[in-house]
Amino acid sequence: MIIKKLGVMTSGGDAPGMNAAIRSVVRAATHHELECLGIRLGYQGLIENDLLELGARDVKNIINRGGTFLKTARSKEFKTAQGRKKAYENLKKHQIDALIIIGGDGSFTGARVFGSEYDIPVVGIPGTIDNDIYGTDFTVGYDTALNTVIEAIDKIRDTATSHNRLFFVEVMGRDAGFIALNSGIATGALDILIPEKDYNLDQLFTSIERGNKEGKSSSIIVVAEGEKLGGVYDLAKATGMKYPDYDIRVSILGHVQRGGNPSCYDRVLASRLGVAAVESIIKGKRDIMVGIRGNKIIFTLFEEAIRKKNEINEDLIKIADIIAV
Ligand code: F6P
Repeated sequence: MIIKKLGVMTSGGDAPGMNAAIRSVVRAATHHELECLGIRLGYQGLIENDLLELGARDVKNIINRGGTFLKTARSKEFKTAQGRKKAYENLKKHQIDALIIIGGDGSFTGARVFGSEYDIPVVGIPGTIDNDIYGTDFTVGYDTALNTVIEAIDKIRDTATSHNRLFFVEVMGRDAGFIALNSGIATGALDILIPEKDYNLDQLFTSIERGNKEGKSSSIIVVAEGEKLGGVYDLAKATGMKYPDYDIRVSILGHVQRGGNPSCYDRVLASRLGVAAVESIIKGKRDIMVGIRGNKIIFTLFEEAIRKKNEINEDLIKIADIIAV
């Protein structure tokens, strides 16, 4: 099949570097003399026929900007057969031969279903701050989010130290602890709670007592949004009941982690994956996600990227514990 026109969209939660990925796709398309259409608001925009032509100059001055200028959404309608039918009809109307989707595993699940129902090559670029996608060492947005998190926790440490306080800091990661584990190590957290690790309150109290014995007057505990002990407020409450003399505070970093100018790493990663996505489509690949492993571009079938999990590095858990004394 000869590809003449590409569609590109961002889907799911936004991530810094998505703009850099769109730019790379558009410019790689231009380089290979393909036309390119941007689809606004992810799958929803495709259903609603919200498309625009994109040339190399239309993506100027965006490599440095957070968010996604195409906007993004989690489309409920695309989960229905009628929604996907409308989406396909709009693709045909615009004579789009192949689709590039920048997003996370929810977006790739949609892509896989769509690609199995209709004859349209789809290629994915992993874009999420959570880094929870199998088939790539790093997702676009993760490095920037980590830098945002450590900047915020460093600031929290200043005030924690000044007041001799214990802080519970919640970071994003609904199902994954990559942000928590790495930012926790980088900011010298006393303990780190992640969804991948079974944990109980006694273990938390042991860490706190160890810190106390070692003479720590203030501490940071980093908690992933998806940890299973009940959330930062419950943890702070239980700790306060156990240690009434402690001065405890909670800080939820929230969506600040999703914004901001992408780091150099994310801009380069997005640029590499954008070109790889376009060139893989030209070569006839479909139903795959492009990723990076050992600094090399690799391809993973959507089916595998969705089914498998990006595993937490157990060494990091051990290291975090060793250096928390
Ligand atoms: O998937 C990225 C993520 O930032 C998760 O870590 C978080 O749980 C979720 O998105 C929140 O998304 P939203 O507020 O857009 O629903």
